[in-house]
Formats: sequence, C-alpha cells, structure tokens
Amino acid sequence: MRATGVQNELHKPISPDSLYLYSAKSLVFLKSGPVRISLKYQKGVALMQLPDEAIEYNYQGLLVPHQEEWTGVAELRIKNLLQPSRLRAFLPHLMQVRSQIAAERELQQVPAELQPLDAGFIDLPQKTLDSHRRKGEASDLGRVITTAARLRALVDRVVILGIGGSYLGARALFEALCNSYHNEMTPESRLGVPRIYFEGNNVDNDALADLLELLQNTCVDPELREERWGVIVVSKSGGTLETAAALRVFRREAAEFYGSRSERLRELFVPVTGAAGKLRDLCKADGYKDEDILTIPDNIGGRYSVLTPVGLLPAAVMGLDVRALLLGAAAMNRRFLDEPFERNPVLQYAAINYLMAEETGKPIRVMSVWSKKLEALGLWYDQLLAESLGKQGRGPTPLTTVQTRDLHSRGQQHQEGTRDKTINNLVIKTPKTPPIQIQMADRNEDDLNSLSRKTFVDIQQAALRGTNQAYADVARPTADLILPVLTEHTMGQLLQMLMLATVVEGRLMNINPYGQPGVEAYKRNMKAVLKSST
Ligand code: PA5
Repeated sequence: MRATGVQNELHKPISPDSLYLYSAKSLVFLKSGPVRISLKYQKGVALMQLPDEAIEYNYQGLLVPHQEEWTGVAELRIKNLLQPSRLRAFLPHLMQVRSQIAAERELQQVPAELQPLDAGFIDLPQKTLDSHRRKGEASDLGRVITTAARLRALVDRVVILGIGGSYLGARALFEALCNSYHNEMTPESRLGVPRIYFEGNNVDNDALADLLELLQNTCVDPELREERWGVIVVSKSGGTLETAAALRVFRREAAEFYGSRSERLRELFVPVTGAAGKLRDLCKADGYKDEDILTIPDNIGGRYSVLTPVGLLPAAVMGLDVRALLLGAAAMNRRFLDEPFERNPVLQYAAINYLMAEETGKPIRVMSVWSKKLEALGLWYDQLLAESLGKQGRGPTPLTTVQTRDLHSRGQQHQEGTRDKTINNLVIKTPKTPPIQIQMADRNEDDLNSLSRKTFVDIQQAALRGTNQAYADVARPTADLILPVLTEHTMGQLLQMLMLATVVEGRLMNINPYGQPGVEAYKRNMKAVLKSST
C-alpha cells in the first residue's frame, strides 16, 4: 500500500508515519483513489484495517459437490476431491492446533519435544512497528530505514549476498514490487533506487564472474555515486560457505576498487547476521560497532525471517514501503489468531492442503502463480514448505509454475497426468497498470480483430477460468488464493499467511516445522571433500 495522503474526518492531513496509529474514521488515498479504513482497538492501540486489500482463499471448487448424481466424473470427484463433511469434522482439531501455536509464542521454557521452536516470527511485525513508533530511529526498523537511506545515497548498485532463507524473501519482494526492468532503467526513472543483484546463493563460477565483469566495466570512478557499488551480506549463522566465499571475493574486489584502507569499505558493506558467528566476528575485527551490524533475532529461523532485517533492509533499499509490509503481516496475524475458520485464510489454506496431501493422496503441491512477478515468491514458498515439512520420510513436494507460460509446458501433465497434485492458483485480481488493449489492425491475417478491445487482463482471466473449468471437468483439485492487488500490504499478508500456514501444517502432521537437520549432511560432505583435496 502506498498511501499518498491521509485525512481524518476533519480533513486534516495525517503524516503517513502515524498511519497505523491514528484513531478515528479515516480515508486513505491510494493511487487508485480514496478508500475508507476502519480502526479496531486492541490493548489501547488502534489497528488499521484495509478491508479492500484482504487476501482470500477460495477452495469451494475443491470440495465434492453436495448429493451429486452418479456419473463417471462424479466418481472421480469423490476419489480426488475433499468431502465437506470431512472438513467439518476436522475443524475442532484445527482450532486446537491454532491454540497450541498461539500458546507456543509465549513459552519461556521450551520442552524438549518442541525444540527447536522459532516462533518469534509470529509477533515480530507488530512488535517491530510498536518499537519503531516508540523509539523512532533507535528502533530496529529505524536502523533498517536509516541504513537503507545511507546505501541509496552512496551507491547505484547493491549486491545482496545470501542463500536460502537469507535470500529468497528479498528476491520475492524485488520481483513482485519493483519494475520488472528495474536494473535497465535510468537512475532518474528509478527514483534513486540502486540497481539490485543477488549473489552468494550458489557456487557458479561463471555467473559470479559475469557479475564481477559487469561491475568492473561499469564502475570506473569510485568518486561518482553512479559508479559506486555496495554489498548487503545476509547470513544468520555467519558460516554458510556459499555466502562466505562470495563475501571474500567481493571484499577483495572492493579493496581493489575503493582502496584497501578506504573508509568506504565499512560504509558500503552492510552485514545482517545472528547474535554470534563468524560473520559477526569478521565485522568486529574490521572495526564495525555493534550498531553497524543488523541482527537477526535468535528465535526466528532463516525461512521465517523475511520480515526481519533479512528482507526489510533489501526492501527499504529497493524503495519499498516496509511499514506497509509489516502492517499487512500484522493484519494477517490478527485474522489467524482471532477469526473463525470461515474468515481465516491461514486455517483454510493449511487445512485444505493438509487434508489433500495426507488423506486424499496428493503429495505434490503446485503453486500456480498467475503473474511473472510472483515466480520468485513461489520459489520462496518452495523453500519454506520443503525445508519445514520435508522430514521423517514425509512432507508435500512443492512446485511453482507460472501461468500462462507453463500451461505450454506442464499443462498437459496437470490435466491428464498422475493424479498426485493439488493446485493452488495465486491470482492478482486487479493489475497495477492500466489494461493494454488489442487494437484493430488493417492486416487481420492473425485473426485478432475479433478480439479487438479485449485487454491482456481479459485474456488472462479467460485463461484462468478456462483452466479451472478444464481441471474441474476431470476432478483435478484446484483452489484460488486471491490477492486484490500487488502491493507491499498484500505481500506482507501473503508472506505471513504462508509462514503461519506452514507452521499449522507442521503441527497437524506432528512434524516440527522449524529446524532443517537434513541440510547439514551435504554441508558436512562438501567440507570433507574440500579438505581432503587440499
Ligand atoms: O531456512 C533456513 O534456515 C536456511 O535456508 C538458511 O536460511 C540458509 O541455509 C542460509 O543460512 P545462513 O543464513 O545461516 O547463511
């Protein structure tokens, strides 16, 4: 949500900074026009509600229709879809699990059977906003915003180093909310937002060499902002080889470019890391003060950390409204904790997908995103689901597809292949930009004049409806997760919704959704191989 102005009922302007605090009936002016917000009070604090921007999960098409006459397809539906009675019977257990997760947030002593427990991500969005309101620049969010402003003022290119949970969230935000050709745009049209690159998420020699070559060719004079580059390095443990090795390469490159004793080196390399570890040690040895290092809270795991400085610092550098992201996430928490099943997309999504995977024999979870801009969000969710629930020989297998692109690659299999999938469409209801029309043309060999005045939005909606119908006709379970628009506020809701739903699913499966013991095996072997070959 980018609010361009806020008024109370007396039509006095309110600063966007106090947006989530203001305690009266208010109008928020979005780019698309004014919307009325309502305010709800909790513990004396007024919380802004934006009903027109609330995410919905529509799963009705995935339920077996009531008292359907027998046909071949009806039998297929009984086998492959979910019985409404089963869902109803499941609700008491689901509600118990919600209470358990709510209680886990408060635990001071974590019993052995719940360890590791990284539930800090749940309350973090509201806590971050509250502390920013109280302490301003001295709060964690204040430091994120100040650091981002400093980087933006100093450099025109920022390389974000990190892997897994320390990278995928920032990339999802970049692709969803920045211009798709951001890095190609002029500095003026980017409004001073630096170009963004991601590295340290692989050990691909040629890809790394390409980025270094780009920096060497385009950044010649370190005195010019337009030719300076900086680095955000994100690693909670501080010991991940892919990221640490890339950092060493960029530190050397920077020493050559800026001079090995340049003060700039500390200004232009921003570390985001855990309370202890090799990255923090390295920074301290370099003379960083504690306040120059952004800290990832102990009780938040990598793939649940997108709304800590891990994702917020890159987002702020990208010029995104980080408070709106947090507001969206906090709004989703309230829906999760307070709303009944009927108005609770977290519980709906978790229950439906759990039952489809565990009881209806659909182990493949397809996130079918209907926007190119959401592919990276899909990859972020792939990691979240796979690392959280892929344990003890169990867990759904996530798969991201982008439509309509992948209807031309995977569509055949989803329509007629093995019946092992649940498809969740992720749909943006209203595009940000005006719909582009198909125009009449003198040459009609392509036969498109019959579609003149139809827009790309019309075509996409037709493709979605057509695909859902084709799947429904042969009992392929499909649901729609609907984002009213693609904004910071809806992305905040979506990220928090999927993190909460993953925790709910984990608890339903009796699988700890936190920790990733299985990832250690490859790391051990890789290190052993590297050591034995020296
Ligand atoms: O979700 C996780 O915890 C992992 O994917 C980590 O984010 C990833 O392994 C990177 O770890 P680190 O931030 O310690 O470098």
